Amino acid sequence: MTDIEVERHYSRGDLFQEITDALVAEGVDLTNLKPEDLDPVEHFHGRGLAATADLAASLAPAPEHEILDIGCGIGGPARYFARTFGCRMVGIDLTAEFCDVARRLNTAVGLADKISIEQASATDLPFDDGRFDAAYSQNVSMNIADKAALFGEAYRVLRPGSGFALSELALGDGGEVIYPAPWSSDGVHSHLLSEQQTVEALREAGFEIVSVQDNSDAVRQFFEAQKEAVRRDGPPRLGNFILMGENAKEKARNAARNQMEGRTRPIEILCRRD
Ligand SMILES: C[S@@+](CC[C@H](N)C(=O)[O-])C[C@H]1O[C@@H](n2cnc3c(N)ncnc32)[C@H](O)[C@@H]1O
Repeated sequence: MTDIEVERHYSRGDLFQEITDALVAEGVDLTNLKPEDLDPVEHFHGRGLAATADLAASLAPAPEHEILDIGCGIGGPARYFARTFGCRMVGIDLTAEFCDVARRLNTAVGLADKISIEQASATDLPFDDGRFDAAYSQNVSMNIADKAALFGEAYRVLRPGSGFALSELALGDGGEVIYPAPWSSDGVHSHLLSEQQTVEALREAGFEIVSVQDNSDAVRQFFEAQKEAVRRDGPPRLGNFILMGENAKEKARNAARNQMEGRTRPIEILCRRD
């Protein structure tokens, strides 16, 4: 599947309006929007904000750092880094609509001076060698067949000695992945690897592996807590399901089932560029 088809998969058409409508329905004052108002909707991966916070902590960002988010989505993780650590952020994403929404939300919460967003492919980054003090990518490599280009580009744009954190779904041993899933409607542009294959691809790109963590238990607990909250309070108005389009419920159900049955495994790999 081409980049254009991946972009089509993620494009909604009127996402900014959908997000602001949901915020208003939730009682949020758009004239005084705070970064944390966006927390429930802007982290497009399992475990939401908690997963971003864990990944950020592993990179130990400093205010003087410039950090690259590869496949930044609508910019939630980049906004979390900027507001929490005061660092400068650059986000790239293939999907033009996500880039547009990311920029508008950066402005809406007063973080536009800290974050720049560019539409680009992770396999051909528009940056000089050795520019960034750290980089990360969350639930993006699943859409990219050419892992050598993806990890090679991440390595190239990092300064020597800096960290790269990858948060991703790996193939589990619980059977075939069930679709539609949030990253692919039918499996055509799904390029999941096992944990071992991912580690090997990172090493081949030149990275030293610092740690590999399996977050399956934490993600299962997250899905259980979500189910319990829906049973108690009814379906939420605000959530990252807004980013998933028409069959969001089915995609979210399948994502949970893939996790619960061990078909996918959430992994976090911290690497270092030598
Ligand atoms: C599941 S979303 C995750 C977004 C964000 N990382 C987050 O966790 O909130 C996957 C993102 O990867 C982006 N993507 C997929 N293939 C890409 C590529 N080759 N280059 C850049 N971005 C890509 C999609 O446009 C989408 O925004």
